[in-house]
Amino acid sequence: MSKTVDIDWSNLGFSYIKTDLRYVSIWKDGKWDDGKLTEDNRLYISEASTAIHYGQQCFEGLKAYRAKNGDIQLFRPDENAKRMNSSADRILMPEVPVEKFIDACMQVVKANEHFVPPYGSGASLYLRPFLIGVGDNLGVKTAPEFLFSVFCVPVGPYFKGGMTPVNFVVTDFDRAAPSGTGSAKVGGNYAASLLANKLAKKEGFADCIYLDPETHTKIEEVGAANFFGITHDDVFITPTSDSILPSITKYSLLYVAKEYLGLKVEERDVLVDNLSEFKEAGACGTAAVITPIGAIQYKDNLHVFHSETEVAPITKKLYDTLVGIQLGEVEAPKGWIYKVK
Ligand code: PLP
Ligand code: COI
Repeated sequence: MSKTVDIDWSNLGFSYIKTDLRYVSIWKDGKWDDGKLTEDNRLYISEASTAIHYGQQCFEGLKAYRAKNGDIQLFRPDENAKRMNSSADRILMPEVPVEKFIDACMQVVKANEHFVPPYGSGASLYLRPFLIGVGDNLGVKTAPEFLFSVFCVPVGPYFKGGMTPVNFVVTDFDRAAPSGTGSAKVGGNYAASLLANKLAKKEGFADCIYLDPETHTKIEEVGAANFFGITHDDVFITPTSDSILPSITKYSLLYVAKEYLGLKVEERDVLVDNLSEFKEAGACGTAAVITPIGAIQYKDNLHVFHSETEVAPITKKLYDTLVGIQLGEVEAPKGWIYKVK
C-alpha cells in the first residue's frame, strides 16, 4: 500500500470524508467521453441544469471490502450498474454501459486504496456513483448533457450500533406514488423522505417505515432499506411492490436464506396489521447491511419482535453469511465478487 491515512476505522459512522480521487465522465452529442479521475470534489454545472430544477438525477450505492486474504473486492457491481440504468430509463437519461460503470468503480477504488478499511474493522469503502442532467435548459424536458461520477467514502454502520436492534415508527407520509418512481433510485424519493425521517428521529426512532402509497396497509420500505421478516415457521419474507427499490442486498439475502440456510423464502405482501406473524424482522441494504428491527411503532402500539436489545438467531446467521461472502470468509455464489486487487 503506497499511502496511509489517519482514520479510526472501528469508530467510523456514515459521514462524508473527502477522499483523493473521483471519476467523472460527460455525455454530449449522443455519446460518453472516456472519463477521467480528478482530485476536485466540486461540480461546475450550468445554473439551468435539469438535475437542479427538475430532479433529473439518480444514484447508486455499493461497497468495496478488504477481504480476509488482503484482496480488495466489490460486491455485485453489475447489479448496481443495471439498476442505475433502469433508474436512468425511467427519467429519460442515457444509460451508462455496464462495463463503463464497473470500470469507473474499479478505478476509484484503486486510486483510493489507502481509504479501504482494514479487514476486521467492520468498516468498508462506500462508492457513490451518480448520474445527473446538466447543460443549459429551461423547459421541463430531458437535459442536453449528462454527467456520470463516482466518489468513495470509508464508512461504518448506517444505523447507530450496526448489528444491534433499533426501533422504527410507521409514518403517514409516502416516499413514492403508485406508478411513480419508487422503484428507481432517484433523488426525489429521498427529498420526499427527509421530513418523515426527521420526525421519526425526533421521536427517538432510528427512522420510519413507509406503507404502500395506495392503501397504507402494507409495509414497503424501512427508511433507505428494504424490510424482511422471519415467520414463526422459519420462512424468510420480504414485501413485493412496484414502489419499492429493488434492493440488491434483499435479493442476495433471498438467495442466502434459501441456498445457504435452507429456509423457505417468499416475496409477498406484509400487512402492517399482522406483525405478529414474524418472530424476527430486519432492514437490509448496502448502507444498512442487516439492521435488526427491535420493535415497530404503529399508531399507539409498539410491536416488539425477538428483543429490543438482542439480535435474533436467524437474523444473525443471515448477517454472518452475507458479510462472510462480502469479506471472502464464506464461498460466494458465482459472479457475486469482483476482485479489484
Ligand atoms: N431501499 C431504499 C429506499 C434505498 O435507498 C436502499 C439503498 O440503496 C435500499 C432499499 C437497499 O438497496 P441495496 O441493497 O441495493 O443497497
Ligand atoms: C445505500 O444503501 O446504498 C443507500 O443508498 C442508502 C443511502 C441513501 C444512505
